[in-house]
Amino acid sequence: MKSALKKFFNMISLYYYKFAIYRCEMKKIYKKKNLWKNIKLDKKISHEIKKIYGTKDYWHRYYQYFTGNFDINYIPEIIFSTKLEPIINKRSLTKALEDKSLLHTLYGDVENLYIPKTIIQKTYGIFYDVDGNPISSEIANKIVSNYLKKHNSAIIKPTIGTSSGQNVRILTRNDNWNESYKDNYIIQELIQNQDDIKKLNPNSLNTMRVITYVCNEKYYIAPIILRMGGGLSHLDNAHAGGIFISVNDDGTLGKEAYSEYGEKYKKHPYTNVKFEDYKISGIDKVKQVAIECHKRTPQLKMISWDLTINKEGMPTLIESNQYGQAVWASQIAHGKSFFGDNTEEMLKLIRKKK
Ligand SMILES: Nc1ncnc2c1ncn2[C@@H]1O[C@H](COP(=O)(O)OP(=O)(O)OP(=O)(O)O)[C@@H](O)[C@H]1O
Ligand SMILES: [Mg+2]
Repeated sequence: MKSALKKFFNMISLYYYKFAIYRCEMKKIYKKKNLWKNIKLDKKISHEIKKIYGTKDYWHRYYQYFTGNFDINYIPEIIFSTKLEPIINKRSLTKALEDKSLLHTLYGDVENLYIPKTIIQKTYGIFYDVDGNPISSEIANKIVSNYLKKHNSAIIKPTIGTSSGQNVRILTRNDNWNESYKDNYIIQELIQNQDDIKKLNPNSLNTMRVITYVCNEKYYIAPIILRMGGGLSHLDNAHAGGIFISVNDDGTLGKEAYSEYGEKYKKHPYTNVKFEDYKISGIDKVKQVAIECHKRTPQLKMISWDLTINKEGMPTLIESNQYGQAVWASQIAHGKSFFGDNTEEMLKLIRKKK
């Protein structure tokens, strides 16, 4: 009886979640209408889109706005977030596994991977030191202030339930961090980028969105993007004013970086670094560690890793995103579909579920 009830409540909450996300995606695409309204598609193509995805062609036109490329295999964001993601990643799992304070536990043994050192963390209301011992708030304060005396700065961020860089802050010596954060957060070492990534914008930690997924008994990596702060912010998130650009297989960047709202840049707007032919070294290492990390959490069929390369040249894991992931930025930046030749296989998962 209990398990039937549980199933029933899970079904209802998933239904409401999907409905809320559907409305949110519709709102977002209408907000960007001025970008896609002048991109015209042949009627036959719009029909085809409707037949394959059951959606209007708005998303295909929005993606095309950036590079000018059309791809019938573009996955409309609304289909990904309301239909595919809930099938491939169970919300009940990601609620626990996405916790940023678990990175060392889950992925700490991956070879050639660096994870920012924890100074202290507060997890469900209790402070812990770097070895996982519960500590008082006075001791936590002492550890942090000793660290800041020595290193001058650190990062503080919530460990669950946020995105888009919300409340990710640099801590300095006289910050009163204890008062503004609640029950789940971490204070960790501030990471610096390797030179070729730093040069693009030295104010922010610039990270790559490396998305791994499982299809036909194999791990794949979707086309990678690099995210950079747009100006003085220390965050690189697109929703926090950042910009993003495609990263090719050999580490060269695309010709143009974009903002979510349609700005296009051939040079970085803050540093003036030209993007075309600019190369980042070490992309292969980054791809390798992303797949090795995914192998540690095979319960999930798709994971978005925020990875960068630190100043010692080591791939560095900032976080893993497992629910509320996105396919738009990769498709926009690369001007091609997210799942490429695997599109049909991934769409089959949705059809099978119906
Ligand atoms: N340890 C760190 N050192 C330096 N910068 C950091 C560190 N951790 C995070 N940042 C910066 O803050 C950004 C946001 O951090 P993080 O990805 O952990 O948070 P988020 O809010 O979950 O973002 P997302 O929308 O990607 O899920 C990073 O992309 C990076 O630019
Ligand atoms: Mg992030």
